[in-house]
Amino acid sequence: MSNWRIPLSNLDYGPEEEAAVLRVLRSKWLSMGPEVQAFERQFAELTGARHAFAVSNGTAAIHLAYLALGLGPGDEIVQPAVNFVASANMTVAVGAAPVLADIVSLDEPTIDPAEVERRLTPRTRAVVVMHYGGYLCRMPELVDLCRARGVALIEDACHAVGARYADPRGRAPHGRAVGALGDVACFSFFSNKNLVTGEGGVVTTDRDDLADRLRRLRSHGMTTLTWDRDRGHASSYDVVCHGYNYRFDELRAALGACQLAKLGRNNRRRAELAAAYRRGLAGLPGWVLPFDGHAAGSAHHLMVAVAPDPDARARTAAALKEAGIQTSLHYPCVADFEAFRAVPAAGIDRSRAFATRVITLPLFPGLTEAQVEDVCRVVRAQAAPVSAA
Ligand SMILES: Cc1ncc(COP(=O)(O)O)c(C=O)c1O
Repeated sequence: MSNWRIPLSNLDYGPEEEAAVLRVLRSKWLSMGPEVQAFERQFAELTGARHAFAVSNGTAAIHLAYLALGLGPGDEIVQPAVNFVASANMTVAVGAAPVLADIVSLDEPTIDPAEVERRLTPRTRAVVVMHYGGYLCRMPELVDLCRARGVALIEDACHAVGARYADPRGRAPHGRAVGALGDVACFSFFSNKNLVTGEGGVVTTDRDDLADRLRRLRSHGMTTLTWDRDRGHASSYDVVCHGYNYRFDELRAALGACQLAKLGRNNRRRAELAAAYRRGLAGLPGWVLPFDGHAAGSAHHLMVAVAPDPDARARTAAALKEAGIQTSLHYPCVADFEAFRAVPAAGIDRSRAFATRVITLPLFPGLTEAQVEDVCRVVRAQAAPVSAA
């Protein structure tokens, strides 16, 4: 339970989720069984990807994606300077080097294809793109660039469950869902996401070669699962590579299936609320509302606003807190974390400006228009010029 009058996010859980958990408990099979298989099939259908593997969390999905692509020491992975730290942390985990690229603009805080191109070297093996807040990156340019240069394209789609690419110019991959736009995509079902299982994630791919490796790496490189052996489909197993235990469980898969059934409706509700915010915050001097005009296809995971300067952000966050309204910050610039101080940080000025001025406002399907107006009123009061006494 949240103590905030208006929390940043809130679960849409009800009798369906309760019944689903009870069904699994009564089945007495708790890990990697029919619920996980059904959820993976449904997730593959949602994204249009040939393969979907449920895993323990989004970070595990990213780790497996890097490992399946064979990324390791000596390799460079180009990625956004504005992202959750998971893609950078997993880069270090596999022994590769993170190379940070700038965002397009304060208006469009996704990775800039031109900045990616500038950072490609003979050592670049992969590019990670992150669909910030559920809004898609410039995928046609990124797909073309990665194909032309022979580097893998990884979608960090943790904000973008259910998003589709909708290009007004109709260029490929128009109409394709997030999760099937690059070589491999990673999703998170953490408690504040559009689809929630507590912890959890999925990694999707169209590539059969990667699918085999992802399947094996998820479960210790083993050739069969406990479920296969229980069903009598196998009596033993071999270990064909060094893997991990990143398996998913039946309880969370059942929750995921319930959440998938609500996803379309909930993402549409998020879109309505985001539109209400945009009306309520339009025209504030010096403020930027990113992704204006980018609503088509978005999963509307986050509603963010960029203040005129860091002080204005701090004042606004304090006023919202005072009013019982929770806010957040997506994200500090990766280069500014102590653990990443050694990573070259030249040419990411737009990311730094964004990271010091952005504020995340409450957004979840159960929010009301009146609550949105309540939040907007506090922001507007902070943005109004102070009259000289
Ligand atoms: C953009 C992004 N990437 C990666 C992750 C990592 O996912 P998880 O928390 O499920 O490990 C998250 C979730 O917090 C995220 O928002």
